[in-house]
Amino acid sequence: MVSLNDISKIGIGTWGIAGFLHHDKSVDTESQLNALKRSYDLGANYIDCSLKYADGVSLQIIKQIIQYAGRENLFISAKLEQFIQQPEDVSNQLDYYLESLSIDSIDLLQLHAPSFTKLSIYDTYREVGKLINSGRVMYAGASNFNVDQLREAAVGCGRQLAVHESLFNFKFRQNEDAGILRYCNKSNIKFVAYQPLHRGKTEASGNTLLRKLANKYNKTQPQIILNWLTRKGIIPLVRSDNMHHLEEDYASVNFAMEEYDYTLIDEYRDAETKNISVDWSDQEMGNSIYQIANKY
Ligand SMILES: NC(=O)c1ccc[n+]([C@@H]2O[C@H](COP(=O)([O-])OP(=O)(O)OC[C@H]3O[C@@H](n4cnc5c(N)ncnc54)[C@H](OP(=O)(O)O)[C@@H]3O)[C@@H](O)[C@H]2O)c1
Repeated sequence: MVSLNDISKIGIGTWGIAGFLHHDKSVDTESQLNALKRSYDLGANYIDCSLKYADGVSLQIIKQIIQYAGRENLFISAKLEQFIQQPEDVSNQLDYYLESLSIDSIDLLQLHAPSFTKLSIYDTYREVGKLINSGRVMYAGASNFNVDQLREAAVGCGRQLAVHESLFNFKFRQNEDAGILRYCNKSNIKFVAYQPLHRGKTEASGNTLLRKLANKYNKTQPQIILNWLTRKGIIPLVRSDNMHHLEEDYASVNFAMEEYDYTLIDEYRDAETKNISVDWSDQEMGNSIYQIANKY
């Protein structure tokens, strides 16, 4: 099994495999499987799954990449989806993953967002803790939480979380500005970034700093961003159906920039998005963290 310390610097995203929210039969899943295989061959060993992606059909493709790589060579992360209505739903969702992927255990089980459970976070994670004790789940994780929610999950689970997955990219620094990244670093919780490339929108935004750094280092803007993220110890989830993009993304860990340039990116805040307030309670009182990057 892949241990926490052996997780690759870049992980594999799966949103869009076999369709987005719903299964799309027109998607060329053969090419997508080849892209997943290439990601593994390029060094990725962390894969992010959801039973909701493409109505669950994405799991059929992920099952094939598990067979290609070998179960022991992948760290598989699975999300608890809306809604956990009663305690048994946690183990029922785990069973669904294990059966769909033809595996005996999941490396990481994480609630996709705080509002995706009708139980308290404490009670939800008490169930996750039981599954860890049974050996069917290795670690607990969380997604889109704030610090208080991360603490409550750890108490319910009876152990510290291993991973927190949330939004982090050049344009959206809310997780840093709200102290969540600092808490994760201090607590030894790995921070996994989704939408690290802002769903492919970064380059089109024509940002001067990114353009300047890309020219200076003779790299692409996605490479500058991924290099900066991995240097911060953040694991970006990358997904592309384009082999050229994949090669580019995985090569982003093979160069270093001057310290001053990392500081420039660290200190940059986007005028349009820096003051967006996040509804961390996730109770539809404003922008939840997982909605904002789609709006801007
Ligand atoms: N926990 C959560 O709430 C949550 C939310 C959203 C996503 N996620 C996870 O995070 C993963 C990553 O997020 P995401 O896929 O939404 O966003 P993303 O990684 O920011 O963007 C994906 C897009 O980037 C493009 N891309 C990749 N490499 C590129 C390159 N070198 N140059 C130009 N474009 C490039 C891809 O297009 P091409 O195919 O054309 O290369 C793809 O459309 C998802 O797959 C999912 O597993 C989790």
